[in-house]
Amino acid sequence: MRHSEETRHFLDLTDIPADTLKKILAHAHDLKTRKYNPPQLFDGLSLAMVFDKRSTRTRMSFEVAMKQLGGHTIVMTMDEMHLTGAESIEDTGHVLSRFVDAIMIRMSDHDRLLELSRHTSIPVINGMTNRSHPCQIMADLMTIEEKKGRVPGLNVAWFGDFNNVMRSWAQAAGIWDFNLTCAVPAPLMKQGETFKNVRFTQDAQEAAAGADVLVTDTWVSMGQEGKAIDMFAPYQVNPALMAQAAPDAIFMHCMPVHRGEEVTDEVLATPASVIYDEAENRLHAQKAILAWCLKHAGVQPSTI
Ligand code: CP
Ligand code: NVA
Repeated sequence: MRHSEETRHFLDLTDIPADTLKKILAHAHDLKTRKYNPPQLFDGLSLAMVFDKRSTRTRMSFEVAMKQLGGHTIVMTMDEMHLTGAESIEDTGHVLSRFVDAIMIRMSDHDRLLELSRHTSIPVINGMTNRSHPCQIMADLMTIEEKKGRVPGLNVAWFGDFNNVMRSWAQAAGIWDFNLTCAVPAPLMKQGETFKNVRFTQDAQEAAAGADVLVTDTWVSMGQEGKAIDMFAPYQVNPALMAQAAPDAIFMHCMPVHRGEEVTDEVLATPASVIYDEAENRLHAQKAILAWCLKHAGVQPSTI
C-alpha cells in the first residue's frame, strides 16, 4: 500500500518512495545538528501515542521529539482505551482524527495497524508491530551514515531471530542498496518471503566474514515469552564472531539488550558497539519522520 499525498502514513519502509526516505534521513541529520535550538515545527500540534507492549526508546524518543519541536503528546496503553474492549478500530480512528494531528502506535497485529490507517484522516506511524519496525531502521541507517559515511555497498550481517526488526532491515537493503546476510536458524526460515539484496544462511561465521556492520536483536521478542532459545546459541555475537568481521566493523542492536544471550558483555564494551548512538538517533529520526508525516498540518521542513 503506497501512501496518498493527503495522508502520509509511516507503516512500512516499502510503502514510501526511496527518495522520500532518503530526504527524511537527511532531515534527521540536520535536526541533530540543531539539537539545542530545535526549529518549532510542531507548534500547536498533538501526537497520540498508543502502546500494547512495553517501550522505553520508542515512547521517550517520540515524546521528546514532539515536545522539543513545540508540539504535545498524549500517551495511553491500549488497555486504557476502549480499543481492547467493544469499540471498533474504525470508530477509534475517526475519533482520534478529530482530536490529534498524528498517531504513533505500537500495535502487535500489523493487519489491525493497517485497518486503523484506513480509518484515519491523520497519519498513522508504526511504532512496531509483530511484522516490522520501520522507525528503528531509520535510526539505524542514520547511525551507519554517521559511522561509515555511506550505506550503499556495505555488507551488513544479521544474527538470530527472523523477526520484526530483521524484516525492516531486509526491506531497507533493497531501498538503500546494501548487502544483507541474515544468519538465521533453519526452522525459522520463511518460505516465499524474499527481499532484494538479502541472502540467508545458517552459518553465522560465514555471515560475519568481512562484514562492515553486525546486527542482532533479542531471541525472544515481546509476546514470545517461554520460547526455546537453544537453537540460537551459534548465532550469539561474541568476540570470536566479531573477529571474523572487517577490522573497523560496528555492532548494532535496537535494544533492549539481553546480555549473555544474543550478545556478550565483551562486545558491548568495545568501541565497535554503537548501540547508544543508535538509540539516540531514534530521537532525531522520529523528528524527521514526524515532520514528513505532518505536512497536512502545515509542517514544511526545508529539506523535504
Ligand atoms: N528499540 C525499541 O523500539 O525499543 P523500545 O521497545 O524500548 O521502544
Ligand atoms: N524484536 C523485539 C524488538 C524490541 C524493540 C520485540 O519485538 O520485542
